[in-house]
Amino acid sequence: MKGMLQAGQVVARILKQMGEAARPGVSTAELDALGANLMKKEGALSAPMVSYKFPAFTCISINEEAAHGIPGDRVIQEGDLVNIDVSAVVDGYIGDTGATFPMYPINPQKQKLVEVARAALEVGINAATAGRPVGEIGKAVEAFVKKNGLYIIRDLPGHGVGHKLHEPPQVPNFPRRDAMRTIMQEGMVFTIEPFVSTRAQHIMTMPDGWTLRTKDGSLAAQYEHTVVITKGRPLLLTQLDAST
Ligand code: CO
Ligand code: CO
Repeated sequence: MKGMLQAGQVVARILKQMGEAARPGVSTAELDALGANLMKKEGALSAPMVSYKFPAFTCISINEEAAHGIPGDRVIQEGDLVNIDVSAVVDGYIGDTGATFPMYPINPQKQKLVEVARAALEVGINAATAGRPVGEIGKAVEAFVKKNGLYIIRDLPGHGVGHKLHEPPQVPNFPRRDAMRTIMQEGMVFTIEPFVSTRAQHIMTMPDGWTLRTKDGSLAAQYEHTVVITKGRPLLLTQLDAST
């Protein structure tokens, strides 16, 4: 687990620094360049680049973009919700973390979205325990999000992670039937990453071939940790200063 913890801590540090650098007037390409530099310093490789030939080091998705946004000329504006997702390979192990950074001031609808998305991750973490079905995570997460008048983007699940970026099991953010039959085992490593939206439950791929945005233009937010399943509360590999 030492290698996984190291990779988790590397991506956590990079995400923190990129989040601090995200502000109105900065382009997403500039943010990605910072991510690239930090990866180099940490001896890390971009996991989406290595695994899928993603055309940048990190994924940056703004507002109605939910995931896999390609950093480029787009300049961050006040009021934007900037999602940064960092996954990297360190000594053959992969860590994956993400967060949505609000460019304050933001309107009450956006504020609610980010608060519920952040809390939804916590709800998911609390449902992740050895011996229970992995589907319990999505069941708890979606119930929480619905109760708050928001929606889960059902197309985007969490996933096992290890030597590969995407491994079994999938960790859907709603009670998908197959996930209700998959039992969480001690030592399993996967991501929990609820994608919450103001309306959409599905996404579409943009003409760039990567960016996933809500079909109806509604807003999305996501927070993600890589976790290790235990008999109690999971270990959060991508929480800064986590230890085994
Ligand atoms: Co991620
Ligand atoms: Co992920």
